[in-house]
Amino acid sequence: MQGLFISMEGPDGAGKSTQIEMLRDYLTDKGYEIVITREPGGTVIGEAIRQVILNKDYSEMCSNAELLLYAAARAQLVQEVIRPALGAGKAVICDRFIESSVVYQGIARDMGIETVYAVNEYALEGLRPQLTIFLDLDAEEGLRRKKHQAELDRMETEGLDFHRRVAEGYRMLAEREKERILRISATLPKEDIHAKIVIAIEERILSRYINKI
Ligand code: TYD
Repeated sequence: MQGLFISMEGPDGAGKSTQIEMLRDYLTDKGYEIVITREPGGTVIGEAIRQVILNKDYSEMCSNAELLLYAAARAQLVQEVIRPALGAGKAVICDRFIESSVVYQGIARDMGIETVYAVNEYALEGLRPQLTIFLDLDAEEGLRRKKHQAELDRMETEGLDFHRRVAEGYRMLAEREKERILRISATLPKEDIHAKIVIAIEERILSRYINKI
């Protein structure tokens, strides 16, 4: 079996976890061994970096350090988890990946998309998800859904303007890369979202594998 790499993106509160679970069940039925992972994190080192990045006491963290820490956690995840899993023909579903850095650091923090790609080339070494699913949610709704949470992390304490730029950033990326990034409204019922994801995977990826045989 050929490895499959899918990332799930969207603003805070868009419902990525639910869709990842539904996708896991679908791909298991298709015969895949599944690896679910997340960013920042997914490895012992990455989870330690996550504790630093999201710690709300570190409000003095500068944007450059933030960008590099996300990239460092990603480098470890790619080497330790993603590449070996793809090499073994598994399906990897990643809760956030490079697009998060492009949108949060490149666009919302205004560091520039090209800077983010350049820094991340060290982490990615050419690797990209075959499909990126973007669950589209307005910033207001995203923050409303997160409000019930007991404690907000350092990124979640950013204001509405920041989260608006995140949502707009994702939409712009999805427009630029229509073939690889699938934009779906996060306000749809979860079964409808899942159905759209399945169609995209079958049309854009699995059919090509079959054609190759
Ligand atoms: P997490 O709680 O995992 O996100 P979610 O909102 O999906 O539950 O927190 C990760 C936070 O880090 C989230 O606010 C997005 C942000 N982030 C970046 O700013 N850049 C990145 O490259 C990644 C992977 C995440």
